[in-house]
Amino acid sequence: MFYVLFNCKMPAILVTGGAGYVGSHTVMAMLEKSDFEYEIVVVDNLSNAYRAKGEKKPVALLRIEEMTGKTIQFYEVDIRDKQGLSNVFGKHDVQCVIHFAALKAVGESVEKPLEYCQANITGTCTLFEVMRDHSVYNLIYSSSCTVYGEPEKLPLDENHPTGRGISSPYGRTKYFCEEIMKDLCASDPKWKIISLRYFNPVGAHPSGRIGEDPNGIPNNLMPFIAQVAVGRLPELKVFGTDYPTIDGTGVRDYIHVVDLADGHVKALQLFHRNGFSGFCPINLGTGTGYSVYQVISAFEKASNRPIPFVPSPRRAGDLAANWAEPAAASQLLAWNATRSLAQMCGDVWRWQSGNPNGYRE
Ligand SMILES: NC(=O)c1ccc[n+]([C@@H]2O[C@H](COP(=O)([O-])OP(=O)(O)OC[C@H]3O[C@@H](n4cnc5c(N)ncnc54)[C@H](O)[C@@H]3O)[C@@H](O)[C@H]2O)c1
Repeated sequence: MFYVLFNCKMPAILVTGGAGYVGSHTVMAMLEKSDFEYEIVVVDNLSNAYRAKGEKKPVALLRIEEMTGKTIQFYEVDIRDKQGLSNVFGKHDVQCVIHFAALKAVGESVEKPLEYCQANITGTCTLFEVMRDHSVYNLIYSSSCTVYGEPEKLPLDENHPTGRGISSPYGRTKYFCEEIMKDLCASDPKWKIISLRYFNPVGAHPSGRIGEDPNGIPNNLMPFIAQVAVGRLPELKVFGTDYPTIDGTGVRDYIHVVDLADGHVKALQLFHRNGFSGFCPINLGTGTGYSVYQVISAFEKASNRPIPFVPSPRRAGDLAANWAEPAAASQLLAWNATRSLAQMCGDVWRWQSGNPNGYRE
């Protein structure tokens, strides 16, 4: 009301890739907060998000609007389109950018390294240029535990070396972007960049109305299991059953996407902290690892269905185990993951069984 009366723009948070999996849950988490004072502006090229015919906005954002009663500004723009991005910055009073937009399929990145460089590195640099041109210096970046490469010791903390032994072009794009962001921060103290290094996001919003909707055959374990449970895929291949882990299968730190989204909301507050500037990497994980067999068993309990699986040889480049040291997030953001593996599986099952074809009718 204030902004209308005085004919000024409302402060905005620009979310690139906000129609995707983690982006949509973060938009939801921001809008669910009753005292949230920003307008949400989403930029997405819809390469991995679905908009129904005749609609202006992707289904995920329409559902969030319906659940929260709040409006999301949406622009179908590619982050490599400098003019298109600049127009969006010109229309809104952007205070901060949360940058999710990227290609993320590890296997595909091996076949299409140039496409991954273009989208994830060139696109990110274009975004930074536009931010600088509009004097916007606050950024939350979607990074990944893949920047740590082959773990030298577990748990992984933020001081673990990055860039060594990264097994995919996708992982390297995340590492290169972090290096670029460090250079940016060294060049100008106005930049405040929080690089959130996600472990393995899974789960869905407890409403069952938004969730992960991968194009084609899922690359990640949990959506794959969910599609087996719902009958879209016949069985799961378990790659590697002879790792030096609790039961021979790979161990990962799975984090509920709603916890992950809350981590972004908490990170926004860091920009207001006195003296905060520069590049700040923060792990978002639970600190606990679960094996593939443990995840299958938890999903069978949550869905009350058997998950047929076939033990298969290891895949090149896969790690035996990784999990996070989440103490920095706890200290800097006052954030801890609270949701259990059972909740992750239960929420995925609610989403997948209620939306067997994802956002498509
Ligand atoms: N999901 C994971 O397992 C995981 C783990 C670690 C890090 N991350 C990072 O988190 C971010 C979000 O991942 P996600 O799982 O939500 O992926 P997602 O594919 O669901 O979401 C990404 C969104 O970005 C959009 N997009 C892609 N390229 C774009 C471009 N050039 N211009 C504009 N929009 C574009 C897509 O349409 C999609 O809506 C990515 O940067 C990813 O690398 C994800």
